[in-house]
Amino acid sequence: MKNIEKDNDIIDKSNESRNKDRSVDLITNSVETAEGDGFIVHRSFPSHSIRHLDPFLLLDEMGPLELLPQETKGFPDHPHRGFVTVTYLLEGKFEHRDSQGNSGKLGPGDVQWMTAGSGLVHSEMPEKEFAKSGGRLHGFQLWINLPKTDKLIKPNYQDVPSRKIPIAKTSDGKVSVKVIAGNSLGSKAVINTLTPIMYFHFTLQPGAEMVQPVPKNYNAFVYIINGIGLFGRDKIIGEGGKMIVFKNDGESISIRVAENARSSLDVLLIAGIPLNEPIVQYGPFVMNTQEEINKTIEDYRNGRLGKIEL
Ligand code: CO
Repeated sequence: MKNIEKDNDIIDKSNESRNKDRSVDLITNSVETAEGDGFIVHRSFPSHSIRHLDPFLLLDEMGPLELLPQETKGFPDHPHRGFVTVTYLLEGKFEHRDSQGNSGKLGPGDVQWMTAGSGLVHSEMPEKEFAKSGGRLHGFQLWINLPKTDKLIKPNYQDVPSRKIPIAKTSDGKVSVKVIAGNSLGSKAVINTLTPIMYFHFTLQPGAEMVQPVPKNYNAFVYIINGIGLFGRDKIIGEGGKMIVFKNDGESISIRVAENARSSLDVLLIAGIPLNEPIVQYGPFVMNTQEEINKTIEDYRNGRLGKIEL
């Protein structure tokens, strides 16, 4: 009799781990930081408690802030090497320009997936006409590390306008998702990533419940843009401005909004397979060894990352 019970126990446990929803590892606040020429960002990490969330290096919420007419706060000429920057704009208008002669504009809902690779110098500033009249700026920048083998690839851009980003909804209409990278609710992103990445913007109405499959080997976190939700197996409560990091203890991430919630919940759910490679960072340069960083600084000083021709 005892033995049978034990066997049943084992079977139950294996089922449980297959279907198990992940639990919350930690919740952190973002920290207000001035970047560029005084642009206020809310940085989730790196921070005291989280150096990085392999393969992710940084998450900034840009603003939200009100630009006064003629005010041009942004991120003037600066270099990058060894990783990817992803800019997702919610409000306002940005323009970028780089040392390879590329330029472009970003409006609400647009995404720029920039693989800096071997390096470039670029500027990210409020768009000229927008800056003239002023207005609200709000968006996100995520840094994703590149594997050793891809750190020095040729820089490239995937500029994806809002209308090309797939949107999927649950049958009850209570959950919608913008699929920036990966697969969600049966929709596949148009952006190609060098390593497997999920990047979703979910909107949940009061009473909504969603379960996103996220394989156990992915590191995963949620950034709450606004609203209040219940996260993971233990329904941990979280609100706007918080980042929630999940344990690698299950195959899905669940998010719920109480029936009586006063507003909908907007979150970014971001996940990726860790690279497990050494990280040596010097500001906007992220390589694997100190020698590579020294070489990068020398390359930058000698103009080998280029400069912006106006
Ligand atoms: Co930049």
